[in-house]
Amino acid sequence: MATRGAAGPFPGPDPSLPKLDPCRPSELLSPTMLTANELRSKYIEFFKTKGHAEISGKSLIPENDPTVLFTTAGMHPLVPYLLGEPHPAGKRLVDYQKCVRTGDIDEVGDPAHLTCFEMLGNWSLGDYFKKESLAWSWEFLTDPAWLALDPLRISVTVFAGDENAPRDEYSAECWASIGVPVNRIAYLPASDNWWAAGATGPCGPDSEIFWWVGEGLPPALSNKGSDPGNWMEIWNNVFMEYNRVDEKTLVRLPAQNVDTGMGLERTVTVLQGKTSVYQTEIFAPVISAICTAANYEYGKDEEKDRSVRIVTDHIRSATFIIGDPKGPLPSNVGAGYVLRRLIRRAVRHGRKLGIEGTFLVRPATAVIDNFLGAYPELEVNRAKILEGLDAEEVKFLETLKTGEHEFEKMLPNLLKNPSKVMSGRLAFKLYDTYGFPIELTEELAGENGMKVNRAEFDEAFKKHQELSRAGADQLFKGGMADTSDVSVRYHTATHLLHRALKNVLGEHVNQKGSNITSERLRFDFSHGAPMTAEEVAKVQAIVNEQIGRDLAVTMTMMKLDEAKASGATALFGEKYEETVKVYTIGDFSKEVCGGPHVERSSLLGKFRVQKEQSSAAGIRRIYAVLE
Ligand code: SER
Repeated sequence: MATRGAAGPFPGPDPSLPKLDPCRPSELLSPTMLTANELRSKYIEFFKTKGHAEISGKSLIPENDPTVLFTTAGMHPLVPYLLGEPHPAGKRLVDYQKCVRTGDIDEVGDPAHLTCFEMLGNWSLGDYFKKESLAWSWEFLTDPAWLALDPLRISVTVFAGDENAPRDEYSAECWASIGVPVNRIAYLPASDNWWAAGATGPCGPDSEIFWWVGEGLPPALSNKGSDPGNWMEIWNNVFMEYNRVDEKTLVRLPAQNVDTGMGLERTVTVLQGKTSVYQTEIFAPVISAICTAANYEYGKDEEKDRSVRIVTDHIRSATFIIGDPKGPLPSNVGAGYVLRRLIRRAVRHGRKLGIEGTFLVRPATAVIDNFLGAYPELEVNRAKILEGLDAEEVKFLETLKTGEHEFEKMLPNLLKNPSKVMSGRLAFKLYDTYGFPIELTEELAGENGMKVNRAEFDEAFKKHQELSRAGADQLFKGGMADTSDVSVRYHTATHLLHRALKNVLGEHVNQKGSNITSERLRFDFSHGAPMTAEEVAKVQAIVNEQIGRDLAVTMTMMKLDEAKASGATALFGEKYEETVKVYTIGDFSKEVCGGPHVERSSLLGKFRVQKEQSSAAGIRRIYAVLE
């Protein structure tokens, strides 16, 4: 499915194949047996030989993007460049990017979904286009010097055309001239072959590459279009020529770009001749740690295997989220709330496996040890990850104990009700008073032959939820960066605010987080005490003064060292390229930043601080609006 990209739903194991033990190497034919680490390096190396500059993957927590809580696709951090900003590293880029997509959080656990995955990506920003992109994908996949995959097990799809864009005959011709047989090239509609990360933003037709997971070689007349169940998507080449401005408007981008994403977990699975990502070394040590804690042998019971997979997936996500340089700890808002849900769901499934005490630390350690080469931040944040997970686990276990106890107290009365329906109001009380999850109430009710009135619960839930939490729920679905005028204005205002805070409170003030919606900006910064009313007023006045001066906002590219030496503010913990963009607002502010920004400060309007409050120990938070 095109909108999910290369790491979306994963076709389950083919039941006709022998059942594999995920903790043991596969008995199936293994074409090259590359590990995930080796695949990552080979991919980067290959695209370097094609003139691409390696850029570093970005944080899982996007800055200044009001529409998503996490980096949801490899291209996400590249959005401004796909929209036309020049990239400091050039026009051909390659990287690997950790991603978190929680849109399907409640479905994860069947073998088909991962909430955390890695994308290998290469980009052309108005440089090469379809022909080179497809030829290089093919070369990397099939050339004996690279992945040496059997061309006979590959099929491709191209866009069939609709009212937005023409049928992509050119890509089909490219594939045919490379040697892909015509009966392995399928034209599919936009639902399959149009990629857009969100409701707005860069998008375009794509060409997807599939691997035959069926038994033996695919039949002669076969492609994804005719036999979808047996073809697994491993790579997606998106030809981003368009920008969706709103529901009705699709405009051409200034340049024809390429955005490709290869799902690391899936491709490793293919390379190792396996049928499920959970059978690879990516997950095996984690599965093994969970099975040890549960004293369970994987493969004995399908229901339990599913729980093991859920725990495995969620612990990996939680480890990556907390271990991110900007990673939150579990909380009730935003990304911290998603994290809390992931951890709590892992704990619940741990209990289904018979684990009674805390256990998350060991599998999380396995994740850290397995990935610290590619993601050194996991090692740097080892203590934060393990302590954060453990604390949340302890807290949740207490919640569960209290909730179950309260449910038992309610039970005799509930059983008297002939309708066998527990009121949503009562279920909500368990949730609201004791934090007891509705899913567990439903489970306990089910065990006692009852149902919960979910509609009533949902209604009560909606009424009482804090706005921010409800907002977080919406964001699960994940949109894409909308670089609308409003966001851009708020982004520039954030730079003014950052500098004004430093001027008023001192140079120790540093940005700790930023979040922009179309209604306001939120800015977290290091400062040890609440701001006084005078300080707030002063900061506000300074920002408005700079707006009034109609300062020009300009961008220059320089080496990171040079930028720092010139006094530009750079964010601590942020990974930068060697060459960076520096945005200057008149003589007032200078920051290393990816943009975009407005051209003149006067475009911002009137700046007003709404609230100054604590965010965390030593960190203050400001909400402000432009009027
Ligand atoms: N954006 C596309 C995807 O995520 C290709 O990188 O599948």
